[in-house]
Amino acid sequence: MEITFIAMILFLVHVQLIQNYSYITKYIEVPLDHFSFTNSYMFKLRYFVNDSYWSDCGPIFFYTGNEGNIETFAENSGFMWELAPAFRALLVFAEHRYYGESLPFGNASFSNPKRLGYLTSSQALADYVYLLQYLGKYCKKENPVIAFGGSYGGMLSAWLRMKYPSSVWGAVASSAPIWQFQGLVSCEIFNKIITFVFDISSLHKCPKIIKRSWSAIRVVTSTSSGRRWLSTDWKLCKALTTPEDIHTLTDWLEEVYGNLAMANYPYETDFIVPLPAHPVKVFCDRLFCSTSSEPEFLLHQLGKALSVYTNYTGNTRCIDVSQSPNGSLGDIGWDFQACTEMIMPMCSGDLDMFENESWNFTKYAEDCYKKWKVGVRRADSVVLEYGGKDLKTTSNIIFSNGLLDPWSGGGVLNDASDSVLAVVMPDVAHHLDLRASNPADPSSVRNARKFYIRVISEWLQKYYKEH
Ligand SMILES: *[C@@H]1O[C@H](CO)[C@@H](O)[C@H](O)[C@H]1NC(C)=O
Ligand SMILES: *[C@@H]1O[C@H](CO)[C@@H](O)[C@H](O)[C@H]1NC(C)=O
Ligand SMILES: *[C@@H]1O[C@H](CO)[C@@H](O)[C@H](O)[C@H]1NC(C)=O
Ligand SMILES: *[C@@H]1O[C@H](CO)[C@@H](O)[C@H](O)[C@H]1NC(C)=O
Ligand SMILES: *[C@@H]1O[C@H](CO)[C@@H](O)[C@H](O)[C@H]1NC(C)=O
Ligand SMILES: *[C@@H]1O[C@H](CO)[C@@H](O)[C@H](O)[C@H]1NC(C)=O
Repeated sequence: MEITFIAMILFLVHVQLIQNYSYITKYIEVPLDHFSFTNSYMFKLRYFVNDSYWSDCGPIFFYTGNEGNIETFAENSGFMWELAPAFRALLVFAEHRYYGESLPFGNASFSNPKRLGYLTSSQALADYVYLLQYLGKYCKKENPVIAFGGSYGGMLSAWLRMKYPSSVWGAVASSAPIWQFQGLVSCEIFNKIITFVFDISSLHKCPKIIKRSWSAIRVVTSTSSGRRWLSTDWKLCKALTTPEDIHTLTDWLEEVYGNLAMANYPYETDFIVPLPAHPVKVFCDRLFCSTSSEPEFLLHQLGKALSVYTNYTGNTRCIDVSQSPNGSLGDIGWDFQACTEMIMPMCSGDLDMFENESWNFTKYAEDCYKKWKVGVRRADSVVLEYGGKDLKTTSNIIFSNGLLDPWSGGGVLNDASDSVLAVVMPDVAHHLDLRASNPADPSSVRNARKFYIRVISEWLQKYYKEH
């Protein structure tokens, strides 16, 4: 690539807005087990390719798929699509094993812990390297690969560069909480950030009401008539009866608050579930109508506020709290990963809007054993595998975080070297920067994207100089 061409990129990228994403679906046979040599089973990993912008053996922009259908990430990573024309890049979106259609044993993939044991980040990274090696054959000369990812996908893109620097030249890791692991950050940080988001979206009123709601739930659901009333008032699909049902309900509520904060985007989206612009503000506005301290009154208002999340389309007949509110993301696979490698200690207390809950690894491991029959001996295998806070030996990574994203608490917020760079956007939720440009984007995101373009251009310039 010519230097002058790179200079033009900054100018060109802003012109290209893409409305609909289309791609060719492909499959590659990959080994189930990249590491043992005792298992020769292969399965089909799905990936999407768009080569319409690719020419002159330009770079490969490679999305490292995370916990869900790859469609979700291909269609919510508009930034990559906007970059491709100017960089003449090949777009590739690779699906993570055990999600979407990339199920090693079809619909039996989750039925037995022996089959599930191949669901690890290291196997997934090895799949991506395997696919990249194959894609490299498209071109006579070698082409540089830039990995992109958001959230767990961002962790994977950073780890791919760290572990396999000869396969991937650089990585853009957006909202990647690579430090949300034992001993690296406080277990309360995630819930403190959620509380902060609700606080600043509501002139400090909302967290106080939510904090009160937990005891209101306890009081109201302590009688069978109260449980019946709440089930009807909130239009729950299954009436609350047992203590486990109440536990399921409070877990569900916590997850809804987390998801509202993550998807607190400045425009309407359909990422986790369909949501209006600034959903946390909309939620809190609905909650305020109440000043009464009657628990039923508070819960009735809370039910109305929750419909921002559960019923924005107006098509929800009843609310199923036993279903994770994660929409299309792959809950089963992620639950297994969270029980094995991806153990992210979480707790809550007086500094946040949640009920007190301490982090107890023994208890966590016991619950995981009950669910999955997996013996988890240590909580910090990710720290050992990927090096924890030590980023000195790697290079060419951008870590970006919005400070309104609960996951930013486990993110890299300071430059680690002159090529491991941190981008911090104060007013932004979960990987907004990877999404397509939108007129409602704050200037922090616009500036961040310009910065990524400059840095990626510099990485590529260096690559072509050295190869
Ligand atoms: C690549 O994406 C663009 C924009 O969505 C689309 O016009 C084009 O047809 C796509 N190419 C392929 C091969 O799908
Ligand atoms: C799994 O797929 C097979 C064949 O497609 C089908 O017969 C079976 O009912 C499916 N099982 C489940 C649990 O969905
Ligand atoms: C969802 O909204 C529609 C339209 O307002 C309403 O008829 C329906 O009862 C709501 N569903 C729930 C579960 O609240
Ligand atoms: C929902 O998704 C989030 C982020 O993708 C993940 O952290 C969480 O564990 C998921 N919840 C369940 C119940 O799968
Ligand atoms: C929560 O825990 C803190 C100590 O961490 C304690 O001071 C406080 O009273 C507890 N709050 C409730 C509501 O139990
Ligand atoms: C942690 O959980 C285990 C197993 O459930 C329990 O025996 C232990 O008392 C708990 N520890 C604390 C500090 O609560």
